[in-house]
Amino acid sequence: MTISALLESKLRSATASFGPVEARVQAANDARFGDYQTNIAMVLAKQQKANPRQVAQQIIDQLDVADMCAPLEIAGAGFINFRLKPEWLAKHFTGFLSDARLGVPQPEHARTLVIDFSSPNVAKPMHVGHIRSTFLGDALSRIAEFVGHKVIRDNHIGDWGTQFGMILLGWKTELNKEALAADALLEMERIYKLISARCKADPATLQAAQQELVKLQSGDEENLQLWHEMIRLSQAQFDAVYARLGVRFDVTLGESFYNPQLKDVVVQLRDRGIARESEGAWCVFSDQVGKPENDPFLIKDKDGWRDNPAMVQKSDGASNYTTTDLATLEYRLKTWSPTEIVYVTDGRQQLHFRQLFAIFGRWHSELAATVRLAHVWFGAVLGDDGKPFKTRSGDTVKLVDLLDEAEERAYALVTEKNPEASEADRREIARVVGLGAVKYADLLPNRQSDYVFSWEKMLSFQGNTAPYLQNAYVRIRAIFRKAGEAFEVGNTAVELVEPAELSLAKKLLQFGEVLPFVLEDYRPNLLANYLFELATIYHGFYEFCPVLKSEGATRTSRLALCDATARVLKQGLGLLGIEAPERM
Ligand code: ARG
Repeated sequence: MTISALLESKLRSATASFGPVEARVQAANDARFGDYQTNIAMVLAKQQKANPRQVAQQIIDQLDVADMCAPLEIAGAGFINFRLKPEWLAKHFTGFLSDARLGVPQPEHARTLVIDFSSPNVAKPMHVGHIRSTFLGDALSRIAEFVGHKVIRDNHIGDWGTQFGMILLGWKTELNKEALAADALLEMERIYKLISARCKADPATLQAAQQELVKLQSGDEENLQLWHEMIRLSQAQFDAVYARLGVRFDVTLGESFYNPQLKDVVVQLRDRGIARESEGAWCVFSDQVGKPENDPFLIKDKDGWRDNPAMVQKSDGASNYTTTDLATLEYRLKTWSPTEIVYVTDGRQQLHFRQLFAIFGRWHSELAATVRLAHVWFGAVLGDDGKPFKTRSGDTVKLVDLLDEAEERAYALVTEKNPEASEADRREIARVVGLGAVKYADLLPNRQSDYVFSWEKMLSFQGNTAPYLQNAYVRIRAIFRKAGEAFEVGNTAVELVEPAELSLAKKLLQFGEVLPFVLEDYRPNLLANYLFELATIYHGFYEFCPVLKSEGATRTSRLALCDATARVLKQGLGLLGIEAPERM
């Protein structure tokens, strides 16, 4: 059990006489407030209209923590502060050392999460905008799985839609076979852009493209075959990127997989009165239940609230992104019975998902009640100029180019730091450091904020970066190489005497508290920040507490602290999809 869970359970007994209340204990973010804190007295006092400091005292009188904590303190408006006793901590830490799960508790209720992430579009290269979805979704999947939940990684590829009319026309009239062989996505994107520009200027081209689309939709043999080829070529390139990034999926079910269901979705929405006809199209409007501020089918302008319907069938009879997502949602619930479905996309799709979830709730109210639907959205990647990140020539940055550049830059740094290492070693370290730097820089900011892409910052060995964390790991590994003797962690009895030893042990024990927290609101940045704090505390420890030069029990327990730090760093980075090199 984590320390916070232990304190929470003790608090629950101590507050039983007050009636039900959620006991929440959190690690204090300032040592002046002890090691852990709770605001439970303030919550109870508010419920009972009582004095919070008095309630805090009543709780303390009932609380049985004398073995764990120094006498409790009441702080500020009624916080209760807990300070752990070093002897208790040392005993507790011994259990942690032999725990393969590094103190991460098995969840009381295992959840089943469908995580919909990456989801690039066929016939278009993946660009930096897909980075965040891929990295965030991968990290969340790894974390949920490690904690003990079941995860279905679902790549909802955009393999259907009106763009295929133009790409088909381009394929038949403008395709450069050599360019296609060299870089299929680039060539498909080129013909798409070419035809799409022509369509704007020339009604005949537009009509020809529309005809290609109609032919595809009605099952024309040739167009279907070309479309399959486009998907195959795109998927091969996506797969190469995923292999390079160490990202995997359990299923790749593109939008087209749901085509056979779409008509029926619209019929049901229509028959149940959820969708209404509007100028030939079928749309879902507000049901006028609830506040307009929370209603995704209303929008406010200068004249007040007006309709903001979601279309589920266009006037030409075609379905769209919303219809497909409705069918997808139904399929996922019926196939996997998940407790939650997580959609990782950029913030511009917020309205789409609010409307989607609301329509689904009206369409399948019973099923909807069984699942938590979460749109895990993120902000943009910006260039130095504060505008969306572009290449010097103004094009969107291709993911592959970005990863190549990361490895090249890391190679230069590694070579500078470690010129004696063999070429192959330097390449391998550069790969791990370069990819790690890009991933970490992307996962570190609060996902909802935009961030500025900076090579210098993300590749720095100082500050909150992947190279800094990887370097901390490498330095610990070097200690063990120097120590020479095999180190058996097992049930090492540890001595925690120096403040730096105590802080490090406490921080290590928090690993098990951070991970479940990450999953509450799907925020891997909390793990990134935890790892940075851990590495920083470790550096402090390393400075004040000689390891190899100390002796006897002190040496053993310091080695145990080093070993535990290395394992948590490696595991934690691994959960962010980042490797930890043995040397760098
Ligand atoms: N293909 C979409 C895009 O690139 C993302 C799909 C997200 N998932 C979903 N179920 N809508 O914007």
